[in-house]
Amino acid sequence: MRTLRDINDLRSILREHRLGGQRIALVPTMGNLHKGHLALVSRARQHADIVVASLFVNPMQFGPGEDLDAYPRTFEADHAQLTDVGCDILFAPTVSALYPNGLSAQTTVHVPEVGEGLCGGSRPGHFDGVSTVVSMLFNLVQPDIACFGEKDYQQLAVIRKLVSDLHMPIEIIGVPIVRAEDGLALSSRNGYLNKQERATAPALYRTLCTLRDALERGECAKQVLQRGKTTLYDAGFTPDYLELRDTTLGPVTSATRQAVILAAAKLGPARLIDNLSVQLP
Ligand code: PAJ
Repeated sequence: MRTLRDINDLRSILREHRLGGQRIALVPTMGNLHKGHLALVSRARQHADIVVASLFVNPMQFGPGEDLDAYPRTFEADHAQLTDVGCDILFAPTVSALYPNGLSAQTTVHVPEVGEGLCGGSRPGHFDGVSTVVSMLFNLVQPDIACFGEKDYQQLAVIRKLVSDLHMPIEIIGVPIVRAEDGLALSSRNGYLNKQERATAPALYRTLCTLRDALERGECAKQVLQRGKTTLYDAGFTPDYLELRDTTLGPVTSATRQAVILAAAKLGPARLIDNLSVQLP
């Protein structure tokens, strides 16, 4: 695997591969890799000749008071894992390479509607930061496909709309959530949890499963979600949102059959998110 920090190096190497007719896949990450990230790389491997993983802790998607400085940076371990899983190119630019004029002078990409509410509601500007950096990465790498995890369900929806609205010729592949044995969705932020909080954390997934079962039995969504919030409070979480949406994140109507329950909740120092699909009767 080659590690590249320079934009011009990346461009010239990828140009060669493209001219050779090779298909290129991109897996954007912020590093501190776990099996969820590696599943994206393995999936990308199946669809392309050259797999590029990017590693960049993007300051633009962190709000004031969020965990930008604390965000775990584990380059050596990330490098080793990407080599093992068969990644071809690791692109790890500096902040000044991607934002040479600073963040406040940066042209931004805003994806309306799908990026509002849920995480977009509780983290103002977050999806503008994600959409902007992902647009840059798409322009730099010009991939044929790009893989994103369903764990960040709203992020995936934002990226799909971005690519469609801006007519980018990139196929977006959503990859199912990878979980720990106890059901907790793998996340770099799980590392913020102490032992006791880590033992509590799978209650988020268990609650979503209980809610899904109740919804699939035809129980009233409003009551089910209210009960879910109480369960999360009682377990020690501070719920941020718990919502039922259709699969495009639009409102659920009497005609909706395929839906998704989405949750974000604080547990100690960590803000955890998760989601589960629901087949409404
Ligand atoms: P990061 O949190 O590092 O996640 C990188 C990718 O891994 C995202 O597509 C995310 O959905 C996926 N992922 C994380 N945990 C997963 C899990 N348990 N199962 C499956 N996929 C999982 O998301 C970002 O970085 C950033 O916002 C980024 C897109 C890189 C833009 O900065």
